[in-house]
Amino acid sequence: MLLLAGCGSEESSESERSAAQASEPTEQQQSAETGTSMDQPAETQNAEAEPAQPTEEAMAEPESAEPATAGDDNDPCTVTLEVGDSIAYSRNSISVPSTCGSVTVNLTHTGTLPKEAMGHNWVLVPSDALQDIGQAGMDVGPQNDYVPDDDRIVAATGLVGGGQSTSVTFSLADLEAGTAYSYLCTFPGHWSVMRGTFTVE
Ligand code: CO
Repeated sequence: MLLLAGCGSEESSESERSAAQASEPTEQQQSAETGTSMDQPAETQNAEAEPAQPTEEAMAEPESAEPATAGDDNDPCTVTLEVGDSIAYSRNSISVPSTCGSVTVNLTHTGTLPKEAMGHNWVLVPSDALQDIGQAGMDVGPQNDYVPDDDRIVAATGLVGGGQSTSVTFSLADLEAGTAYSYLCTFPGHWSVMRGTFTVE
């Protein structure tokens, strides 16, 4: 209060402070004076109604639900591939994290041609075996989905036609680090153009 007289430049702000300081004790005094018996039970009730527990429970429910949803949509260990009435995959490369214990590849044929005319599969092999497997595929015929019996094949789906889907799940433990892998469709005539690279990162 004594500084008010000596500081002209901050007079207005200090006047506001002094006014605020003057009003705050008054309000506190009023509430304290008029509601001593009423305020204490009210504050106790508020303290019971506003604990952190309900908030934590409300937060926990969406947190537990979000990872499940995100996992379904963005699971890096599940790969979705589409094929159609042309000799092509929807993706020419696939990479998966090495932390995946296993990988699932879902192959969907969105076309209309039957598998006898435009069949597709997904066969994963070391890249240096791609040509061998591709050429051997046609020899084993449709009864084997054009997938030859070869130990170099890491994983293979069945053969699908228009409107059909298939999938295969395989362990990454069988893949050798530093080896380049490729996938191909072993339907006769497809492997030379219907292929892609598979990388474990
Ligand atoms: Co094909």
